Amino acid sequence: MALKKVKKKDFISTQEWDKEELDELLKLTKDVKLNPKKYRNSLDGKSICMFFYNPSTRTRNSTQVAAYQLGMQATFNSIKDSWIGYKSESVKDTAIVLSRYYDAIGIRLFPNSVNWIYKEGNKILREFAKWAPVPIINFEDDQFHPLQALTDIFTIKEKKKEVKGKKVVISWAYHPNPLPLSVPNSILLITTRYGMNVTLAHPKNYELDDEILNMAHQNANESGGSLEFSNDIEDSYKDADVVYIKSWGSIKEYGNAKAEKPLRVPYRDSWRIQEKYLENTQNDSILMHCLPIRRNIVAEDAVIDGKHSIVYDQAENRLYTAKSLLYYLLKEK
Ligand code: CP
Repeated sequence: MALKKVKKKDFISTQEWDKEELDELLKLTKDVKLNPKKYRNSLDGKSICMFFYNPSTRTRNSTQVAAYQLGMQATFNSIKDSWIGYKSESVKDTAIVLSRYYDAIGIRLFPNSVNWIYKEGNKILREFAKWAPVPIINFEDDQFHPLQALTDIFTIKEKKKEVKGKKVVISWAYHPNPLPLSVPNSILLITTRYGMNVTLAHPKNYELDDEILNMAHQNANESGGSLEFSNDIEDSYKDADVVYIKSWGSIKEYGNAKAEKPLRVPYRDSWRIQEKYLENTQNDSILMHCLPIRRNIVAEDAVIDGKHSIVYDQAENRLYTAKSLLYYLLKEK
């Protein structure tokens, strides 16, 4: 398909990309999924450096296989085996040198790698983007997970055909530890951008940060969607077309796991996602989670393996969004 020329362009959040560009990327993802042979070796000789400060199963492997199928090389770098991990080399030097070898750099950087100082991971990614003349791809930082968000909206479109006007519940779920805000932030921004009627359901103290909420409100106003909030898990699921479950930590005690624990523990049973909660949703509702998930702690087996669950299809689609993004960013037109 004919694409607009793209020079160095970073993928740090979906919010920074025009809606037309995201639409183009989604269209491309569908084509990549349906016509794999068309794209085989289309990026022959190109390479991507994958830099992981933290573990990954899906992001690492989907990107690696995507690169292989496109004829590229993907090199895995663990931060513990790189100079930058020991703080002995600057982001500037690392970014410039790696850009001499590679056509793109992907980076995963969770809150624990920046002492849980909120947005510090995102700041480091933007520092990479400032110095690297090649695209920087956010493999999940402490604020955004754009490849997951792209996959999620692609998957919702695939399953529901029309997304505008459909009800999605982004539901907090209990987890033994406070988790990053990147996935809830990203799914909230992308679903409001695409005109969905979004209910953000969470217990008290688990509000997302005001900057993200303001962007989501603006997205909903512009797209004709809506954004509501609920502290009542069972009521919030009523008539939902999509239930997206995810655990996240409280912004109120961000980085202080000891102080956060008493906020979270009271919800261990009521916000463990149970099969009965899905009974109030539409008959053909879909249940999503980005994975990994702690079974029977975050959600019952009956939910994850139940008739509404599409978690494996969602995870599979990570391969196609990884391929389409690489093609979009690196194909010479
Ligand atoms: N969903 C996701 O990003 O999975 P990984 O942490 O395994 O990459």
